[in-house]
Amino acid sequence: MAFFIWALLCLINFAKEARAEPLSFAFDGFSTRNLTLLGDCFIKSSNLGLTRDTSVPSTSVGKVLYSEPIRFYNPETNRSASFQTTFSFSVANQNPALSGDGLAFVIIADNSSVGSPGMWLGLMNASDVSSQRTRPPFLAVEFDTYLDVGFLDINDNHVGIDLGNLISITAADVGNLQMNLKSGNVISTWIDYNGTIGVLEVRLSYTDQRPRNSVLNASFHMPNYVDEYMYVGFSASTDGSQDLHTLYTWSFSTDGAGGPAPLLTSPSPAPAFTSSPSEMDAQQPSPSPSTHFGGVRRLSHCKSIFCLKFAAFLGISISSAIVLAFFILGIMACTYKLWKAMKNQETIPPYSDTLVTAPRKFTYKELSLATKGFSMSRVIGHGAFGSVYKGILPGNDVAVAVKRSVTSTKESRSEFLSELSIIGRLRHRNLVQLLGWCHDKDEILLVYDYMENGSLDKALFGNTGPVLPWIHRYKILAGVAAALAYLHEECEQQVLHRDVKASNIMLDAGFNARLGDFGLAKMTDHNKSPDATLAAGTMGYLAPEYIHSGKASEKTDVFSYGAVVLEVACGRRPLERDLPLKENVLVDWVWGLYRHGKLLEAADKRLNGDFEEEEMERLLRVGLLCSHPDPACRPSIRQVLQILTGEAMMPHVPLFKPTPSFAISSLPVSLQDIISEAGYSARSSSPSDSI
Ligand SMILES: *[C@@H]1O[C@H](CO)[C@@H](O)[C@H](O)[C@H]1NC(C)=O
Ligand SMILES: *[C@@H]1O[C@H](CO)[C@@H](O)[C@H](O)[C@H]1NC(C)=O
Ligand SMILES: *[C@@H]1O[C@H](CO)[C@@H](O)[C@H](O)[C@H]1NC(C)=O
Ligand SMILES: *[C@@H]1O[C@H](CO)[C@@H](O)[C@H](O)[C@H]1NC(C)=O
Ligand SMILES: *[C@@H]1O[C@H](CO)[C@@H](O)[C@H](O)[C@H]1NC(C)=O
Ligand SMILES: *[C@@H]1O[C@H](CO)[C@@H](O)[C@H](O)[C@H]1NC(C)=O
Repeated sequence: MAFFIWALLCLINFAKEARAEPLSFAFDGFSTRNLTLLGDCFIKSSNLGLTRDTSVPSTSVGKVLYSEPIRFYNPETNRSASFQTTFSFSVANQNPALSGDGLAFVIIADNSSVGSPGMWLGLMNASDVSSQRTRPPFLAVEFDTYLDVGFLDINDNHVGIDLGNLISITAADVGNLQMNLKSGNVISTWIDYNGTIGVLEVRLSYTDQRPRNSVLNASFHMPNYVDEYMYVGFSASTDGSQDLHTLYTWSFSTDGAGGPAPLLTSPSPAPAFTSSPSEMDAQQPSPSPSTHFGGVRRLSHCKSIFCLKFAAFLGISISSAIVLAFFILGIMACTYKLWKAMKNQETIPPYSDTLVTAPRKFTYKELSLATKGFSMSRVIGHGAFGSVYKGILPGNDVAVAVKRSVTSTKESRSEFLSELSIIGRLRHRNLVQLLGWCHDKDEILLVYDYMENGSLDKALFGNTGPVLPWIHRYKILAGVAAALAYLHEECEQQVLHRDVKASNIMLDAGFNARLGDFGLAKMTDHNKSPDATLAAGTMGYLAPEYIHSGKASEKTDVFSYGAVVLEVACGRRPLERDLPLKENVLVDWVWGLYRHGKLLEAADKRLNGDFEEEEMERLLRVGLLCSHPDPACRPSIRQVLQILTGEAMMPHVPLFKPTPSFAISSLPVSLQDIISEAGYSARSSSPSDSI
């Protein structure tokens, strides 16, 4: 029995030690062999696509990992593995206006799931971050093609080194090499980590000549960031874009943390092999494949250890028969496991369908079922447009928000559909995605992504939950600016939002801003006067010239954005009826503080000073600039975005709130008068118009 236990321990130990050996592999083309494909990953003519190849912008995330775990450090000796990896990839996009998010080489603990799409690059799960849950460790070299303010990205064309966090410890502009990650050209990459000195170096080139100089290097002690055994591979994601991330070749080698290789004659590092056996046979004689993989090798060594020890044992023992039986069983189990593992690798992983989001037509019945017959218990919000219900689509259990409104006229139908065709094509990470629509029984139903964290209005002023932290607030405002820049400048047909306000800004699981109701304001309010819109609850967000002429422009959206910025920074609604007259218009109050050099006093008291002063000041100034009464003096939303990301200088903000340059005398009433007249009827009670 003692022998049996010893032998078992030996086997288990051996399985561990075997992986600590130097390991190397190379793929000249890809098949499902030796690889774990997760998410939207697919193989097409032996190239590996990490994100979905679609003709419409989609949200997609894929990850590929080498199937076997690899040892990255030896806890006994406190030694890191050294490794080298070389791969070639391309990022192609037919629609450069919508691009993102990038690809990463990754060393990660989790081999069974992909993280969130978009800026998370499939490396992390957005909900883990918002719930502050600890997550499986990872180490990544990101090739990032999207400027994400929240992660302090330097631009949309950089490499960065991420240690368990998507805020890179160091990053380099790939533009310095006269290279563009998303040009569609094949880019060769070399990543080397020297475990002795703890330095990681990254090299990039359009050719397959290894450059002498690294584009990026970083120094860190790997065991602080990884587990002993980790998986290596790649992860990539898109978010409402069409980037196709393709991997062509990949080789990897490691010294396996230099662990002792007990009981074994140290094997020479295994030569590279190709993953497709037919190709390999044709090109070069294969050095017996069974020596390349832990599994196969493990088995043959099991046998030799067993023989040796068994003979010795015989000399001193008599109870060999039982032990032998155990061993045969053990070996059989071992073989069965291997066989099963190999069989599993042959099966092609399922592709997830839930991420494709081209808007489609729903039937009334489908949506009625999803919302339990538009049950009151499913109502998550009310707005000028109608009621919003939470729905669960039958079949795939996806949560959606269904917005329902009653239309009056027949003509509105064609207008509605033409409008829809524009909106349906809009895709941006900071827009609430329209999933589909239904026009039936004189009702318009719109189906959107369900947003876990409700509206910005609720997050700021809701009585439940903690105070919205500064890091989220800044990211949210940068996100809204990005969404507006997309609507104003980047999409095929300019879209004016017309109703930017806190209750139209939704927050997803990661507290990213998602602007909702875009374009629909025009559709639903087209024959109403702006005063009617006023009464509909947007007072304080409307530009004076809009109130005056009823004509919306980019600059009226910028004005509304400015109101939101001040609202978020100060934690106060644009108009507060309970405050003394002098203070009840937020922008006037902030301007007053600014004039007296006390701008930071406008900061939300509930933050308890827990914010970056420089960011707070920047936002407050941006808020004032956008609130300029003269539309011509307001910055464009693109400029705002550049100011927020530090790419552009902050323009001068006048000390006194200027008076509008257009004929003020022709204004029927001043903003203040309208406010008093309207008697705050609209905004006082209902805090939100969810989605
Ligand atoms: C392992 O080595 C690193 C640096 O080489 C050192 O910072 C760390 O404290 C060591 N850890 C242990 C447990 O010895
Ligand atoms: C992940 O790794 C574990 C342990 O190595 C293995 O049992 C499991 O099958 C792997 N999962 C996938 C999806 O490859
Ligand atoms: C995030 O984690 C939660 C719980 O661990 C899981 O239910 C969810 O599917 C994960 N989401 C993604 C996108 O991985
Ligand atoms: C790591 O760096 C040391 C010191 O520069 C050097 O002697 C060693 O050869 C390097 N190891 C690898 C694997 O490059
Ligand atoms: C890392 O990069 C810096 C400059 O970017 C360079 O001075 C340094 O020598 C590099 N270190 C290594 C080990 O390559
Ligand atoms: C990995 O691929 C090689 C070459 O196709 C094959 O011989 C080997 O059995 C594979 N290893 C595993 C563990 O599937």
